[in-house]
Amino acid sequence: MSNQLEHGPVRTTRAEALLASVGERGVLRSFYDEDVGSDLMQDADGISEAQEMAARIRPASGPVLELAAGTGRLTFPFLTLGFEVTALELSTTMVASLRRQLEDEPADLRGRCTVVQGDMSAFALDQRFGSVVISYGSISLLDDAGRRGLYASVREHLEPGGQFLISMANAGRSESLERDQELSGRSGRRYVLHVRRSPAEAIQDITVYPADDTSDPFVVCTSRLRLLESNQVVRELEQAGFDVMEPASFRSAGGSGRHDALLLEASLRGDPS
Ligand SMILES: C[S@@+](CC[C@H](N)C(=O)[O-])C[C@H]1O[C@@H](n2cnc3c(N)ncnc32)[C@H](O)[C@@H]1O
Repeated sequence: MSNQLEHGPVRTTRAEALLASVGERGVLRSFYDEDVGSDLMQDADGISEAQEMAARIRPASGPVLELAAGTGRLTFPFLTLGFEVTALELSTTMVASLRRQLEDEPADLRGRCTVVQGDMSAFALDQRFGSVVISYGSISLLDDAGRRGLYASVREHLEPGGQFLISMANAGRSESLERDQELSGRSGRRYVLHVRRSPAEAIQDITVYPADDTSDPFVVCTSRLRLLESNQVVRELEQAGFDVMEPASFRSAGGSGRHDALLLEASLRGDPS
């Protein structure tokens, strides 16, 4: 797709070093590969992020529209919290994976989720929502034109008084351009997440690999995202006709104790709220 960076597999510097050290056990994959990507995203814990968003959603504001839902890292916590969710996702693989997982859930939970295949930068659903949510990993896939399309589409789908919630990485708090974080997934498997930011190129390289260095195969997953700062998104939202509240910081999944994430809350300008 033209509005996105290459999904990989990108030969990040960390991936190069790992693959050189593990020899024949090493396999380089993209997050979006058929098996590995959906597995990894499925395993990442979105509970704290979903709770942070849910705390800002007014009771009885109706279904939540989740954009670029992937394999449901946020979808399932929202459903568990009792929300009705429309999960929009572009990739056929991810849509299929989300639907497969839903089949294993109790009827009550399954019945509250509608999965829609669509493009977050240009969608037209025949419905408005009290809240629209998107995670940092998704919004930072879009280029300037893609984000303009996203904001315009969201405007057309928010109920009066509705909220657009966006989680962002709190990059400003990070002292270094590189960080490692160990993540524990729902399955109990542990991964190392390595993030390397390159402000000059406005990109960040993500490398995820097993914390257990004896893993065989040793699957190294990579992705390249835009380096999107929250103040840029705030500016863009304001230009697109949203009012944006002071960003709130929170600790994301597996966070190291720092407030490593931010939540942006926007509403349509002039909305009675
Ligand atoms: C990094 S994953 C994030 C998934 C999930 N929201 C989360 O936070 O774990 C990004 C997702 O965006 C999807 N995606 C990429 N471009 C998209 C687009 N234009 N519209 C909808 N989904 C898109 C990808 O297929 C992938 O599932």
